[in-house]
Amino acid sequence: MTVVTTQTDEQRAISIVIAHKLASLNLNATFVEPVSVGPIVSVYRFLPHSTTKVSHIESLSQDFALALGVEDVLVKRMPGEVAVGIFVPNRERKYVQWRDVCHIPTIDSLLGGKRLWQVPLILGVDHLGKIVAEDLTLFPHLLIAGSTGGGKSTLLNSLIATLIYNLPPDEVQFVLVDLKQVEFNHFVGAKHLLFEPAHNVYQALERMQWCIEEMEGRLKKFAKIGARNILEFNGTHQDGRLAYIVIVFDELASLLLDSRKEDEEEKRGPSLGRIAQAKLSQLAEKARATGIHIIAATQRSSVKVVEGNIKANFPARLTFRLPSQADSMTILGTSGAEHLLSRGDMLFVNPNRAGIQRIHAPLASIEDIRAAVEYSTRRQGWLREKNY
Ligand SMILES: Nc1ncnc2c1ncn2[C@@H]1O[C@H](COP(=O)(O)OP(=O)(O)O)[C@@H](O)[C@H]1O
Ligand SMILES: [Mg+2]
Repeated sequence: MTVVTTQTDEQRAISIVIAHKLASLNLNATFVEPVSVGPIVSVYRFLPHSTTKVSHIESLSQDFALALGVEDVLVKRMPGEVAVGIFVPNRERKYVQWRDVCHIPTIDSLLGGKRLWQVPLILGVDHLGKIVAEDLTLFPHLLIAGSTGGGKSTLLNSLIATLIYNLPPDEVQFVLVDLKQVEFNHFVGAKHLLFEPAHNVYQALERMQWCIEEMEGRLKKFAKIGARNILEFNGTHQDGRLAYIVIVFDELASLLLDSRKEDEEEKRGPSLGRIAQAKLSQLAEKARATGIHIIAATQRSSVKVVEGNIKANFPARLTFRLPSQADSMTILGTSGAEHLLSRGDMLFVNPNRAGIQRIHAPLASIEDIRAAVEYSTRRQGWLREKNY
């Protein structure tokens, strides 16, 4: 096998090691330039010959990682390209800082300077270092999975901070649920919070019930004027515009799995976990038209947590590293998440686009979050003056 490259010495060495590994296993593939160098990983492309199965190369992650002496290697067919990408961690990783990707001009320039989005999420940067921004309302809910330490809570904090920093409280509001009681306290004081963060199951259920009543109230308002959704309603009610509401759950499993055995339920009624599941299903199914959207993070990726109709209503899925290929299949419908790196490294299935995207999440420090909250409380006149 020949390796033709104009890359650096290190890249050349890596592509040669990969090529040798493939050859030693009797797999024929040609190295394809260029090598894409991102902040955390670099991608080496190979074009398998007709005798070589892509799935076979994809299963060789461990072999490549051992041969290269790196933490882990992900092998995936490149979306939109005729090549298999071998994602190798960089020796020096540049973690994505929230303050570098949180500003409105960034969102503006990404989306053509117009307010095309309603609830912008800056998910991070892709494997090339390009910012990935998405509109939550188009998902319309987002499920975030990953083992402990992957970066779920950090990402939730970054997403909330970006919205609080960029949008006024009459455009986006939050209901925060965190049974661990430690993650969202820095947001207290921001006008965007409809309540203080819910810290126990009872508070969580109360807040969910409030959201259901708000959803039903909004549906009645829409029915009166024949509006089908919040966009149509706000379009005709410039004065009484409704804010988008984002319900954020950290560790959703600890809320939903608080369940009793079935025989016990017969005697004492449904458990709190089951009541929470019912409320969540109701919101996930019906709330989107009313501008109420859910972002839920869960460590447990087992089918039990992301089961049935909840899963069906969360087609947008982000996952940090997962313990096994089976977990990756549950969340993404494909393998790969078991080969992610720790600390902010993710795979993303976007229901509005084909393929799987590798994204590195932004890291907002406590100081960043405090600054965003403080800035939002000081701001007057907000961004409307900018002709949004
Ligand atoms: N995007 C990121 N960039 C760099 N480091 C990160 C990032 N996200 C998380 N980390 C690191 O990983 C640690 C665990 O993150 P955390 O959000 O608590 O994970 P989880 O909620 O999934 O258990 C954090 O304390 C932080 O040091
Ligand atoms: Mg966490």
